[in-house]
Amino acid sequence: MIGEQKVLFSGMQATGNLTLGNYLGALQNWVSLSEEYMTFYSVVDLHSITVRQDPAELRSRARKLLTLYIAAGLDPKKNCIYYQSHVSGHAELAWILNCFTYMGELNRMTQFKDKAAKHADNINAGLFTYPVLMAADILLYQADVVPVGKDQQQHLELTRNVAQRFNAIYGDVFTIPEAYIGKTGASIKSLQDPAKKMSKSDENPNASIYLMDDPDTIIRKFKRAVTDSEAQILYRDEQPGIKNLIDIYSACTQKGVEDVVREFDGKGYGEFKLAVGEAVVSVLKPLQERFAQISRDKDYLDGIIRENAQKAEYYATKTLRKVQKKVGFPERVH
Ligand code: TYM
Repeated sequence: MIGEQKVLFSGMQATGNLTLGNYLGALQNWVSLSEEYMTFYSVVDLHSITVRQDPAELRSRARKLLTLYIAAGLDPKKNCIYYQSHVSGHAELAWILNCFTYMGELNRMTQFKDKAAKHADNINAGLFTYPVLMAADILLYQADVVPVGKDQQQHLELTRNVAQRFNAIYGDVFTIPEAYIGKTGASIKSLQDPAKKMSKSDENPNASIYLMDDPDTIIRKFKRAVTDSEAQILYRDEQPGIKNLIDIYSACTQKGVEDVVREFDGKGYGEFKLAVGEAVVSVLKPLQERFAQISRDKDYLDGIIRENAQKAEYYATKTLRKVQKKVGFPERVH
């Protein structure tokens, strides 16, 4: 809470090409929730360097991601859209919270285990303490709600634990945040292997729908999507490929899963896959058009970046000063 207002915080990494999973699992909910809350949406570039990045590319992707937030329908005059690296409080609070987080807790994080396996040559300390930085992001703005996909749930639990631990020692410093996980779209799977999540870093381009894919590519990828030989469109774990397609269709059309199953009762997989592809195109095409339009307006974007960094900094500093005082750092002399 900030004053009487409930706060929403979320963020996304500017690494790799964003996928339909990022959109349906997070961005789409950000937009639908934005009216109800005071919102902070960060491009989390500090998190990105836990994996080696090309500097020019990171800068360019970060700007594209910020533009995409706006293209998705977040009005940057009402929603605080900003770069994490422009607000030094994230790193400062992360340091303090590091001292309230146990190695054992971080060792249990499944994302760390996955990433360490993928980047065996660069298992750096930042990768290990990544969830603490994430906790700092959220707690810095006293967030009540954090819309994320299912893969971030464990990090949210850790955030709550660290916040509760801190509050138990120092009093009510942090708001305890709740994860908001959408009913459909919270865990979009790979189109080539529905046991895995759809991921920016998948090597097989047919496994993921990228937000900038053109309509023909999207339709082609859905035609090739791995399904099964059951020949019936049912929402059940035994048919993970079909289940994933139903989730995607449902999240894109806002129709309930049961309605989708009824709509395609008795229809063939070919017809269903085409319908899913078309539903995705009808969501992504307008997004791409708005993205192209906003990208052209450099001065507008620069203004947004400047103003929102100041706004984020203001609220971040308020929490940070309170925390610094609580832990016993000497007061500033003005
Ligand atoms: P990131 O950048 O990997 O993903 C951004 C958001 O997209 C969701 N997501 C998915 N949802 C459904 N199906 C999928 N296949 C899928 N893939 C990704 C993620 O759950 C996420 O919500 N650590 C975060 C970024 C972060 C953050 C934060 C999020 C940093 N600080 C504070 C919330 C609050 C991450 O790497 O997300």
